Amino acid sequence: MTLIAHISDLHVSKSDFDEEMFMTAVTQINNMQPDMIILTGDLTNNGYYTEFEQVKRYLAMFEAPLFAIPGNHDARNLGYQTFEELIGERSWKLTMDDQVTVIGLDSSSPDESKGHVGTPQHMWLEHQLDECVINDNFSIVSLHHHVVSIPQTGRERNVLSDAGDILKTLTTHEVDLVLSGHKHVPNIWRINNTLIVNAGSLCSYKLRGKNKNSYNVYNITDDEIEIYLNEVKGEKFLFGKYSRNRM
Ligand SMILES: [Fe+2]
Ligand SMILES: [Fe+2]
Repeated sequence: MTLIAHISDLHVSKSDFDEEMFMTAVTQINNMQPDMIILTGDLTNNGYYTEFEQVKRYLAMFEAPLFAIPGNHDARNLGYQTFEELIGERSWKLTMDDQVTVIGLDSSSPDESKGHVGTPQHMWLEHQLDECVINDNFSIVSLHHHVVSIPQTGRERNVLSDAGDILKTLTTHEVDLVLSGHKHVPNIWRINNTLIVNAGSLCSYKLRGKNKNSYNVYNITDDEIEIYLNEVKGEKFLFGKYSRNRM
């Protein structure tokens, strides 16, 4: 069994970050003892160096290994450089127990809101996913921008500019889970054998309507994937349940 917490869109800043909400979530996630935490971007609100310094201190409060990719807000004000200095690589791959492969992609561009994976990173992704297929690994791809439009998020503006090609690669390789953030609205789409899951914002005031701060939890067994939607100060419920390889 593998337990993964998926958090997103912290927006650490003077204006949009709810510190108390964050601290509550840290306690909940530490008590859960997940195998890993995946953070799908917008760690900061403006990409400022001082915001990243704060983020680094906040993220150290999590006990589980945490892997982050940048969002569009992190790529502002030279934040894409600061991310590499204070957080880590902007795209990466890791394998757990020779069975689970997690890939992080950087879909941000300096000082732009739109998402773009780009040809070099797409080719690298193809190669990594070929290996996942050969090794029959459970595969997870994480990126900040949504690959498919999300309901109740207004006019579509920031879906990946190369979404069609990336979606083709993800579905033909039968990637098990695609994890994104950006819209601050939790959602699940299933396309062919691939689950495309968005997390809400963990602790930002930037919420739509009655949406609450939340994070997702994935409980992956040999047979099933359970997806839980955890509102930090609200309900925690089963958001979706899917059979593995028999979807
Ligand atoms: Fe965001
Ligand atoms: Fe974003």
